[in-house]
Amino acid sequence: MSNPHSPLIDRYGHDAEHLVDVAGYSQLSSMIGRGSCRSFQQTEVAPELIQLLCATALASPTKSDLQQRDIVVLNDPVLKTEIVQLLSGQSWIAEAPCLLVFCGNNRRQRRVHQLRNRPFVNDHLDAFFNAAVDAGVALSAFVIAAEVVGLGCCPISAIRNAPDKVSDLLGLPAHVFPVAGIAVGYPTSTRPTVSPRLPLRATVHTDRYNEDNIDEQIEAYDARRDRQLPYKQQRRADLFGTSTRYGWSEDKARQYAQKERQNFGQFIRAKGFDLT
Ligand SMILES: Cc1cc2nc3c(=O)[nH]c(=O)nc-3n(C[C@H](O)[C@H](O)[C@H](O)COP(=O)(O)O)c2cc1C
Repeated sequence: MSNPHSPLIDRYGHDAEHLVDVAGYSQLSSMIGRGSCRSFQQTEVAPELIQLLCATALASPTKSDLQQRDIVVLNDPVLKTEIVQLLSGQSWIAEAPCLLVFCGNNRRQRRVHQLRNRPFVNDHLDAFFNAAVDAGVALSAFVIAAEVVGLGCCPISAIRNAPDKVSDLLGLPAHVFPVAGIAVGYPTSTRPTVSPRLPLRATVHTDRYNEDNIDEQIEAYDARRDRQLPYKQQRRADLFGTSTRYGWSEDKARQYAQKERQNFGQFIRAKGFDLT
C-alpha cells in the first residue's frame, strides 16, 4: 500500500529510498508524489488564475527562444462540448471545469521570415519537432504550476484522435497543430494517487545508455506496481482474453497492439510540414 510519507518509494520502489536524505527532498516531495486528476469539484476556476497558469507555463524554456507553442483556453461551452465529443471514451473530461489545448506553432516563425525578408531554409522534420517539444515543455510546466496552487489536471492526448476536426473547431491555421489537451479543476480527492514508475536504474543512465537486465527490471516493476496499484480491468479482454498476470507491460503491449492515430502524419503534412 502507498506510504504517505514516502512518495519517492511509492513512485520508484525501495531502490530510491536513499534519495529521501538528499538536501532538497522536502521541497520536491510533493512534485514526486503528484498524480493526474480525472475527478473534479464543480467549483469554478477563476479565469485570471488560468491566465496566470498560462503565463507560468509559457515562462518555461523554449528552443532558441523561438516560442513555438500556444495555448487555446476553451471558454465557449458549446465548443467545449463539441471538442469533448471527439475524445472517445473519456466522459470524465466533460466534468472538468476547464479545458485547454496546447499547440505547437511553427507559423509565427515563418511569418517572421516574411517580415524580415529572409528565407526559411529549415523546412524539415526539425521544424515540426521543435514546436512539438516546445508545446510539451509548456504543458509540463502548466501541470506543475496548477498542482502547486491546489488544482488537479490531466493531459489529454486523445485531442489528437481526430486532429483535423479539432483543428477546424479551434481554427488552427497551417503550421499550428494540437499536441495535447489538458483538463483542469479542483480535485475531488485530497490526495493524488501516485502511479509507480519504472526504476530509476532503467531510465536514468550514467555516461552511456545501459539496458542490462531490462527484461528482469520490467518484470519486477510489473510485480511492484501490481502490489501497489493493480489495474482495475484488463484492456480489451474481448480481443486479448484475460491474463492471469496482468501488469504494466501487458497493458502497454495490448495498448500498442492496436492501431492508433494512423492519420496523424497525414494531418501534420496537410498542415504544411515537410517531415523529411
Ligand atoms: C502528453 C500526455 C497525454 C496524455 N493523455 C491522456 C489521455 O488522453 N487520457 C488520460 O486519461 N490520461 C492522459 N495522460 C495522463 C497519463 O495517463 C498519466 O500521466 C500516466 O498514466 C501517469 O500517471 P500520473 O500522471 O498520475 O503519474 C496523458 C499524459 C501526457 C503527458
